[in-house]
Order: sequence, then C-alpha cells, then structure tokens
Amino acid sequence: MLLQKSLLVATLVSFVHCIPAASALYKRAALDDWIANETSTALAGILANAGYNGAKAYGANQGLLLASPSTTNPDYFFTWTRDSALVFKSLVDRFIATGDSNLQVEINDYISAQAKLQTVSNPSGSFSDGSGLGEPKYEPDGTAFTGDWGRPQRDGPALRATALIAYGRWLQSNGYSDAATNIVWPIVKNDLTYVAQYWNQTGFDLWEEVKGSSFFTTAAQHRALVEGSAFAASVGSSCASCDSQAPQALCLLQQYWNGQYIVSNINVNIARTGKDANSILSSLHTFDPSAGCDDTTFQPCSPRMLANHKAVTDSFRSVYSINSGIAASTGVAVGRYSEDVYYNGNPWYLATLAAAEQLYSALYQYNKAGSITITSTSLSFWKAIYSSAATGTYASGSSTYSALTSAMKTYADGYVAIVEKYTPSNGGLAEQFDRNNGAPLSAVDLTWSYAAFLTMSAARSNSVPASWGAASANKVPSACAASSATGSYTAATNTNWPSFPCTIATSVQQTFNVLTTTVPGQDIYVVGSISALGSWDTAKAIKLDAGRYRSDLPLWYGSVTLSAGTAFEYKYIRKEGSSVTWESDPNRSYTVPKTCRTSAAARDSWQG
Ligand SMILES: *[C@@H]1O[C@H](CO)[C@@H](O)[C@H](O)[C@H]1NC(C)=O
Ligand SMILES: *[C@@H]1O[C@H](CO)[C@@H](O)[C@H](O)[C@H]1NC(C)=O
Ligand SMILES: *[C@@H]1O[C@H](CO)[C@@H](O)[C@H](O)[C@H]1NC(C)=O
Repeated sequence: MLLQKSLLVATLVSFVHCIPAASALYKRAALDDWIANETSTALAGILANAGYNGAKAYGANQGLLLASPSTTNPDYFFTWTRDSALVFKSLVDRFIATGDSNLQVEINDYISAQAKLQTVSNPSGSFSDGSGLGEPKYEPDGTAFTGDWGRPQRDGPALRATALIAYGRWLQSNGYSDAATNIVWPIVKNDLTYVAQYWNQTGFDLWEEVKGSSFFTTAAQHRALVEGSAFAASVGSSCASCDSQAPQALCLLQQYWNGQYIVSNINVNIARTGKDANSILSSLHTFDPSAGCDDTTFQPCSPRMLANHKAVTDSFRSVYSINSGIAASTGVAVGRYSEDVYYNGNPWYLATLAAAEQLYSALYQYNKAGSITITSTSLSFWKAIYSSAATGTYASGSSTYSALTSAMKTYADGYVAIVEKYTPSNGGLAEQFDRNNGAPLSAVDLTWSYAAFLTMSAARSNSVPASWGAASANKVPSACAASSATGSYTAATNTNWPSFPCTIATSVQQTFNVLTTTVPGQDIYVVGSISALGSWDTAKAIKLDAGRYRSDLPLWYGSVTLSAGTAFEYKYIRKEGSSVTWESDPNRSYTVPKTCRTSAAARDSWQG
C-alpha cells in the first residue's frame, strides 16, 4: 500500500514536469481497467480447465488440471506436474489473499490427486526409488502417459512442494495443523526426498527440449529444499537431506551466471546464447518479499537479475516484427528464447507477463528496503529506462529514487500493455501470439498463461506471496561439490480433509456434456424447463460446442450460469436445417448444486 502511494506521488510529479507523462498517466488508467477485467477472465479460465467440474475439463479427473483444453495442434490435453504446481501456487496465494473458499475446494482436490499421482509408475520410473516423480505429464485420468517425451523433468516435484507448503502454512496459521501434518506433509516429504536425491542429475528443461541443467529447475530446487526444511520442522519432523543439499544447489545456481547474464541451460551442447525467459520466470520463484536485493539468490531487484532482464528482453527486440520501432525504454513482446522455432518462434503471453512481474516484485523490494542501489552490473538496465542513471545508492524520498521507481513502473506496465494489445476481446489467453501480426497462436486457454496473468496482477498491486527464507539461505559454499542424498518414499494416503467453512456459491457455471454421434450439418442443443434453457422452446435452446468432438469421444458441451439450487428438467435436441430431433424420454431432472463450488458439470449420453 505504501508503495502505491509513493508511486502515485512519483507519477504526479512527472505529470507536472513534462508532457509525455500526461499521456502515460492516461494510458495507465485504461490499463488498470483492463487488468481488473482480465483478472476475472483469467481466474475463470483456470477453473474451466480444472477436473472434473471445469467447463472445458470433461475427461479430467477430480483435482487434475489440464495444461489447455486443446486436443489437436497442439494436444495439451494432459496434466503436467510443473504447470499444475505453478498454477496452484498462484491459486493458493490468491486464496490466502482473498479468502475465496471456492478456490480452497479446488486446492484440496489438487492435493488429494497429487498424493495418488506420485505413486503412478511411468516411463521415467517408479515410486519406490522416487524416479517416477520426475515424469513431466500424465493422462487427464491420472494414468501414466506412455508416449515418447523429454523426460525426466526435475522441476515438477520442487514446484509442487512449494505450492503445497504455501497451503500447509495457511493450514497451520488457521487452526488446521493436523491437516498440514497428516495430509500435506507426507506428499511434500516425497517431493523433497526426490529433489535432494536427484537435483545434481541432468533432466529436460521447462520447455521440454534440452537435456542438461536448467536455471529454472535449480532455482526451484534450491527454494524447495530451503522452505522444505523449515516446513518439516514446523510439523515436528526434519529434513536432513534438505539441509545437506540446499547449499550445494545454491552453489550450482551461481554457475549459470556468466558475468553479464544467466545462461539458462548449462551442461548442454547447444548453439544458443542461453538468454532465455527461463531465467526471468525463475525470478518469480526466487522472489522473497523479506529478502534484500541479493545476487546469490537472484532476487528480482538484484543487480544480476536486472542485467539479465535487459539481456533477455533485448534479445527479442530485433527478432519479432511486432517489436520493431519500440524504444529501448519501452516493454516489448517476449518469447522463450530468440532461437526458438516452435510454431516458428513467437512471443509467449506468460513470458511477457513475467518480464513485467519481475519488475513489480523488484519495486516491492526497493520500497521495503527504502533505497535503490545501482551497481556497475545493473547500470545498463537502469540507463535504458532512465538515461541519467548512475551508480550509487538512492534513498526513498529522494527525487532520483522517485524517478527510478516511476521509470521502472512505467517500463513494467509497457510489457502488460503489449499483452493487452494482443489479447482478443474475449480475454482468452493462448500460449503464443504471432511474431508478425500478434494474432493468438498454438494452444488456446493455456492454464499457465492465465496463472501468469494472475501473479503479474497480484505483484502489480503489491499483494506478495509469503517469504521462503531466502535471506538466511544465501551463503554460497566456498567450493561446489557434486552430491546427492538418497531417501525413501512412502505413499501419502490420507486425503481426509477437515470440513472448512465456505461461502455457498449463489451462482454456478453449469456445464452440460453429452456424448452423441453426429454428422456434419447437425448441431446439438440443450433445452429445458427454465428460461436460461429456453423454457422448452427449441428456438431458444442453448447451442453446444463440438470443438473437442472425436469419433472415439463424440462430445458436445456448453455452459450457462444458473442460480445454485435451481431445479429443472432438460433434454438434448439435435437440429439439422429446420428439423429438430428430441432425445427419448424421460425428461432429465437436475438441481444445480448448492455448495462451495462455483462450477458444476453434468455428464450425459444421448438417450436414443
Ligand atoms: C470490462 O468488462 C466490461 C464488462 O464485460 C466491459 O463493458 C468493459 O468494456 C471492459 N473494460 C475493459 C477496459 O476491457
Ligand atoms: C553437479 O554439481 C556440480 C558441483 O556444483 C556441478 O559442477 C555439476 O555441473 C552438477 N551437475 C548437474 C547435472 O547438476
Ligand atoms: C417432459 O416435459 C415436457 C414439458 O413440461 C412435458 O410436456 C412432457 O410430458 C415431459 N415428458 C415426460 C416423459 O414426462
């Protein structure tokens, strides 16, 4: 809150002194409106992909989150351990900040599903020696995915531990310590054991392309080991292997820094610069609101992370035509890495949003520290956005501090403005947008894109996640050593959640799913006894979507918003030209559930 006030003052100061800032202020108001709208779209977008009540999640089991509802070009209709953990971390933080009890039921379901998923044998290995935990993705029904893939990916267990610990901490602070100890900790313990055992082995990076060591993975592992040790102690246990391995993971983390930027993939032999949004995304997870601008833990405000931000974002300025003509002081569209060829290599929404989020998090840290220190490492970053920047320390209250923070906020907003510009009017966030014309590309409704929006928006409004203990985990050992701590794995079986108080939903997104074989020219509708379903008038029936129709899964689906508790009758009808065919009797009867959940799904087959 304090930060917002000081930024407002800074903005007004520049508004008074020069004309260009006036238009920046005007644009900022519009951006604020858009962010507010898009935040609710993003939240709904995530929940639509969450099994099994989500509007687009037919076929996903309870608690399993789809990467995207897209089943072809590309087929992302799977649940990834990494994506799910990142998204649920954002939902846990949002639940803690807002108390939205609908999110809590989703979080509990996710955790229960992970207990089971950990034990599923898969091509990466089995549960008994932990190797199976490195499997990147599973079928949406929770069985193993057996096709070829870039595996293992060792960031998943670390990120899942972090998401679960965040929720475990909330449980402990709110009178549910038993649930933290008996439900959450056994799952976290397996993930920590995995990290401590395998962190020093190669695996595929977050883009699933390169086998080696990935900055994102090492950063996530270091964090998980640090907070895992403290969480273990809080449940009356301990994690000796976290304590022995965390300093060594931190030691490895330093090895990605080449003096100018983070080389995101090491222990590899690839022809790339190493400038990769991998490292900017990592800053979202290294961020600790209680830490200073520490270089060794790569805090968002650290000189290293700022130099890296410039190196990575600049690498996209000349490669995307939608970035041409944008000044060096203004945010641009950001992709994964400039050499990318996936879908011809394009900007990604989540990478562009992360570039903004790092800077909002940095602003939080400067405000907390009460000063900004510009070093020779970060000078070129600062000069690009504030040409008279010079090395030194500037206390809050000074005009230079105000000018620097104001420039950084405007610069960060520039990245969000790019995302706004290339987001369609319905607010849907795909995976990528075209490098030449900005049109959305690749998977639609990418769950991670929506989560990236939510975390950016939270950081922008100074709603920060909990500390993970970075400030006391920044001592790099004098010599790095290859190491590992082997542990044992025990299936987590307790998913018996206490009954939490919740706000009963008043309005529910009710989805209708029906399996029925059709031929081109035919459309399926739902019609029923209430006005939202056309009051039995076939002309007012709700048309369903065949976007995921396959011969082996002839699915038609669609949603309407209904009041919880509404009882009604309905049927599916098929229209072809002017002819209407009703499914056979009896009428179906249904009552919209009146629970904590804001979504519900009917799963039907045509009565023939
Ligand atoms: C926000 O959403 C409302 C309602 O959908 C719409 O009328 C308004 O134009 C939107 N504003 C922005 C800035 O997108
Ligand atoms: C293992 O750790 C050593 C010491 O830090 C490091 O040199 C090596 O690159 C690491 N290997 C992997 C695969 O993490
Ligand atoms: C289904 O509902 C309609 C409209 O109320 C009614 O006319 C029809 O008789 C019902 N069908 C059966 C089998 O009850």
